[in-house]
Amino acid sequence: MNVSRFIGSSNFGFAQYAQEEIRRLFPGTKFRYLEPGEVFLIDVPARADEVTAALLEQEPIFLRHIQPVQHEIPLDKTADDLMRLIEFVQELRPFVAGEKVAVQARKVKAGKFAYTPFGVKDALDPILQQEQSVEPVVRGADKIISVYLSDGTCYLGISTPHENLSDWNGGMVRYRKEEEQVSRAKFKLLEAEERFNLDLSQFHNALDIGAAPGGWTSLLLERNLSVTAVDPGHMHASLLGHPNLTFLQKNAGDVKFEERAFDLLVCDMSWSPKQMSKLVAELLPAVETGGVAVITVKLMHKKPFQTVKETLQNLEPQVVLLQAKQLFHNREELTLYLMKEEL
Ligand SMILES: C[S@@+](CC[C@H](N)C(=O)[O-])C[C@H]1O[C@@H](n2cnc3c(N)ncnc32)[C@H](O)[C@@H]1O
Repeated sequence: MNVSRFIGSSNFGFAQYAQEEIRRLFPGTKFRYLEPGEVFLIDVPARADEVTAALLEQEPIFLRHIQPVQHEIPLDKTADDLMRLIEFVQELRPFVAGEKVAVQARKVKAGKFAYTPFGVKDALDPILQQEQSVEPVVRGADKIISVYLSDGTCYLGISTPHENLSDWNGGMVRYRKEEEQVSRAKFKLLEAEERFNLDLSQFHNALDIGAAPGGWTSLLLERNLSVTAVDPGHMHASLLGHPNLTFLQKNAGDVKFEERAFDLLVCDMSWSPKQMSKLVAELLPAVETGGVAVITVKLMHKKPFQTVKETLQNLEPQVVLLQAKQLFHNREELTLYLMKEEL
């Protein structure tokens, strides 16, 4: 029987849900933690291409990143390991020649090695460039060489960023904090834009519910949208007076808008999913058909699948779910990407 091996990553504490989603697709799959609660080996009783196709077709909510394991090299944690990795890379020509390749190296947190993951990339990039006619890159790669350094074994795999579900190392999305950044919450919407392949600048009028202090609003304004922001709290002073911003300092339950006034609704209210989805459902008539909603859902008492189901029940049939995903910048939350339906 075919068995294929992968390494999966989720946000800390959510690996069990990612595993549950994979096991639903492939019963009999076995898991072993490499990093408790977040990184795990996956042995699936199916061919690797079947697994990849199934994960792309029905992308799990909690699986942030996956890399194939096609080779395993013993490690003794000394600089000799780098020589073994270089030898491995020297054999790769048929897979990577002429392409843009990113080496993404990670290690178990507690592991003490004579070199760093960055040192692995530093050692392999010149070999790839000089001997394999490869252009080493960090982002925008055609292929990724994943290197996971665990205690006694290095797990290696070559895949495309698409197959890994993310082109960030381990799905850890690292945006640079801007000097004038209003809130860290902005990263959630930036990541949603990237993850859902959503070009925010194609929208015109956005409704931002639970907007304060204004990280999401600031991104929407940067993308040239007109924004109506609703929050009983205070918006950051740098945003007030922006010509494209209307700020209603109110509870979302106390506002009313004309039908189809917006083509985008975003909601990052840290409130119970039940209350939040009821409020959003009341405001959805203000979104035009084909318009989009991006909504953060708090996972209050875990039971995440139940929470998603109940939230969607409150929003349907006004919307269809395009994707539910726990983003790297979500903490005890996940993000729904929805489209407004004709009723
Ligand atoms: C996580 S913060 C939002 C952060 C924001 N997205 C940003 O980027 O800066 C949650 C906000 O939801 C607001 N909120 C909670 N309940 C609300 C309600 N019923 N109506 C409107 N806003 C609400 C809170 O006042 C708080 O400012």
